[in-house]
Amino acid sequence: MPTNMSIDSDASDLGRGANNEADTVSELDDSRPSRGFSETSSGKHLEQEGGLPAGETSADVKERLQQAGCSTQSVHAGEKRQKAEGSISAPIFTASTFTFESTDSLMRFVEGKEDRDEYGRYGTPNERTCEAKLAALEGAEEAIIYSSGMAAIVGLLMSRLSAGDEIVFFDQCYHRSREFCAKHLARFGVVTREVPTGDFDAMEAAINSNTKMLVSESPTNPHLTAVDLEKFVALGKATEVETLIDATLATPFNLRPIEYGVDFVLHSATKYLGGHNDLLAGVICGRSEALEPVRSLRGILGSVNSAHNMYLLERGLKTFELRMQRHNENGQRIAEFLEQHPRVERVYYPGLTSHPTHEIAASQMPGFGGLITFLVKDADWKKTSQIVDAAKIPRIAPSLGGVESLIEQPLVMSYFHCTPEERARFGIYDNMIRMSCGIENAEDLIADLKQALEA
Ligand SMILES: Cc1ncc(COP(=O)(O)O)c(C=O)c1O
Repeated sequence: MPTNMSIDSDASDLGRGANNEADTVSELDDSRPSRGFSETSSGKHLEQEGGLPAGETSADVKERLQQAGCSTQSVHAGEKRQKAEGSISAPIFTASTFTFESTDSLMRFVEGKEDRDEYGRYGTPNERTCEAKLAALEGAEEAIIYSSGMAAIVGLLMSRLSAGDEIVFFDQCYHRSREFCAKHLARFGVVTREVPTGDFDAMEAAINSNTKMLVSESPTNPHLTAVDLEKFVALGKATEVETLIDATLATPFNLRPIEYGVDFVLHSATKYLGGHNDLLAGVICGRSEALEPVRSLRGILGSVNSAHNMYLLERGLKTFELRMQRHNENGQRIAEFLEQHPRVERVYYPGLTSHPTHEIAASQMPGFGGLITFLVKDADWKKTSQIVDAAKIPRIAPSLGGVESLIEQPLVMSYFHCTPEERARFGIYDNMIRMSCGIENAEDLIADLKQALEA
């Protein structure tokens, strides 16, 4: 190699081989494996010493875990068999950067011959472990973790949409996701259309040649409307438009969107996946090829997590199935209790036959989670708030899906600054209460709600 070779021409040799024309580092970036590219779900990073069980390749591990049950996946996916110092729990790698023992080793990395970490913005060991667990749970080729659920949706949409593109939402989707599109993506020339949730004729009518993504949540928040995934995917396929499901309320335990053919699945991991009301995170799952530019943009946006945060998520995921079983049981029992209580006008819970989308939910979901919304009979907002205040076990807070039960009045918590017309449009009533049932004992939660309703 000539001694006077510039950094640029060095780099061009590395990135494109001997005959390339590239003469700048930035040109080269396109030809390298995307920075932070993770072979998470293939388990390649497990191949390092001590990573694999005797006699198994990373492909064997992946196949075995794909067939395994939910808890086997969430406990073991993405984990090395033998960790540093023999530690059974995950070491927390706080490093912001990762060292190379020599230029040869750096060259192997930039040539895409070695899969490893480089710089924290492109991915870290603790994040990879969680990504492998989430990909396994979701039955997805790959998962990408973000610093919050909102960062995940922003990251996905920014990478998939360009000026002139259009996106169609069902109108009960998370209001901040819709706000991001309507207020912010609009400034970059992306058009957002909203149609009534579950109205596939309206969704089809809103699709045109510029439409690039169909977005739905299932079930929705706070009305717990289940969306028919077969119809949703069929519409996307017929019109050649990608589909995105925000399955935060369902989780991969209660809904398997990828098995229906949905392209991208989003979760606020802040909720059931973390499960302990102690972290913020988000995840997008899907096909590796479709996620490659998404991961690449995440490396630029920098919406990544600290290793400590990822340790909490990893720890939370290990008990995911056990927690979900309890959330489902508590949700169903408490919804049934509320439905027969004389002070309750209406209960929104997809596990009740009275819910308008019960049949869809029952055909797609083995359980319905811990979130319940209900209306108090003959109550104004003040009387409703007295019930919220009288509850002794659930805490008053936004969010859902944690081990502690939470209770709130959507009118005050999330829609206080909306006009009455806007609230009416969103279906938010003065006498509405939303409760996220935690994992406490159902009898205790029922007794507490009974005394609060009868106080
Ligand atoms: C259904 C749904 N999607 C996305 C989000 C955003 O997640 P995060 O708060 O982790 O940014 C939320 C938050 O409440 C949500 O309820």
